[in-house]
Amino acid sequence: MSQRILVWDVPTRVFHWLFAISFAASWYISEADEWLSFHTFFGYLMLGLIGFRLIWGVVGGHYARFAEFMCSPLAGWRYLRQALSGAGARYIGHNPAGSQAVLLLLVLGLAVCLTGMFTQGAEEQQGAVSGWFGVKTGVMFREAHGYIAILMLVMVIGHLLGVAMESRLHKENLARAMVTGIKEAPQGSAVSKPFRGVGALLLMMAIAFGIWWFFYAWHEPVEQRLGHDDAKLEGPHVAFVGPKLSDNAQWREECGSCHLAFHPSLLPARSWQKLMAQQDRHFGTDLALDADVSAALLEFLVKNAAENSKREAAFKINRSIKPDVTPLRITETPYWVGKHREIADSVWRSAKVKSKANCAACHLDADAGTFEDAAMQLPR
Ligand code: HEC
Ligand code: HEC
Repeated sequence: MSQRILVWDVPTRVFHWLFAISFAASWYISEADEWLSFHTFFGYLMLGLIGFRLIWGVVGGHYARFAEFMCSPLAGWRYLRQALSGAGARYIGHNPAGSQAVLLLLVLGLAVCLTGMFTQGAEEQQGAVSGWFGVKTGVMFREAHGYIAILMLVMVIGHLLGVAMESRLHKENLARAMVTGIKEAPQGSAVSKPFRGVGALLLMMAIAFGIWWFFYAWHEPVEQRLGHDDAKLEGPHVAFVGPKLSDNAQWREECGSCHLAFHPSLLPARSWQKLMAQQDRHFGTDLALDADVSAALLEFLVKNAAENSKREAAFKINRSIKPDVTPLRITETPYWVGKHREIADSVWRSAKVKSKANCAACHLDADAGTFEDAAMQLPR
């Protein structure tokens, strides 16, 4: 005697589909800088979902509990082989291989979210863990983030194949059961309560959303913050939530009168030393600075030079320069050249740009020295 019962309660189903959507969406937009804030949004959403699922795995409905899972990888493997030969037993909840997949996906999901958070905190100095790590560590996190995401994709595909195989084996549509929650089960099987736990799920999602909102969304739009109300940036953008860079009024006055005051973090200390040592021959002009002014400027420049900055650009510029080379131009450093290689000659020659050193023509935040991906805008 069998009956149709509720197996997957509402919070488990909502968790499942939102988790899937978060993964797919963040993967889909992962390459586009202007979508980074949404990529991050899905990351935080996923963290909230995982947080809920971990709680739900302990105190949740009968079929959602980890205690109901077949936790031995060996059992999972054995089941997989049986199922492949068409002999796997039918489970109302997760079968042993499915249990392993769910646990692994949760662990990988947690790892991919945390490494993503750490990457952004380190490379962009943004988000909940801004400034915890240096850029060098950030590069490591970024690589780990990528590999873990790929591993997760492999697991997702494995999971989908498993669902398809199992559905055929027992002639039931498992994907639909994850939508309706209903499955065929023998008389006397445990029945789930549909709405128990919904509050906990909403709470965890709200916390995750709140954290994301606080760090990414409630700030002024980039254009306004930089006083470029008329600027039209493409796509949605990450707000500037990284720390403000060090500033100095004297430096702005003396070094910002002919061109943008290039932030000290854009060149290593030895470059600033050389530039100031030959300030009487500054790209064809004589800066004619008094010795004490010159010394004060040099102190500020060296103190905040590339090697002493936590900024991603500073780190990468410095890393790209050979130790025995002392560039006098930011625009001659290999990192800068590499980043601007693809810009067409016609853009450089256009009336709005004219010089490669005219950073502000394309970077709305050039004055602040941050050079965020989000504030880039090629002149039309
Ligand atoms: C009298 C005008 C003037 C002042 C003041 C001035 N510069 Fe310059 N600077 C120039 C000119 C001209 C160039 C070359 C610009 C170009 O190639 O488009 C230049 C270029 C630079 C560059 C190279 C930009 C690149 O191509 O990467 C740096 C770095 C620089 N200046 C630093 C400074 C610093 C630091 C100060 C303050 C101590 C300063 N400048 C003050 C005129 C000035
Ligand atoms: C003609 C427009 C233009 C000018 C002028 C320009 N840039 Fe850029 N810059 C870009 C574009 C476009 C990118 C994005 C390249 C990419 O992401 O592949 C970029 C990327 C960068 C990056 C890397 C940002 C990141 O996080 O990926 C830095 C740093 C940077 N520029 C600094 C500068 C500095 C410093 C100057 C002035 C000395 C300057 N740029 C002048 C267009 C410009």
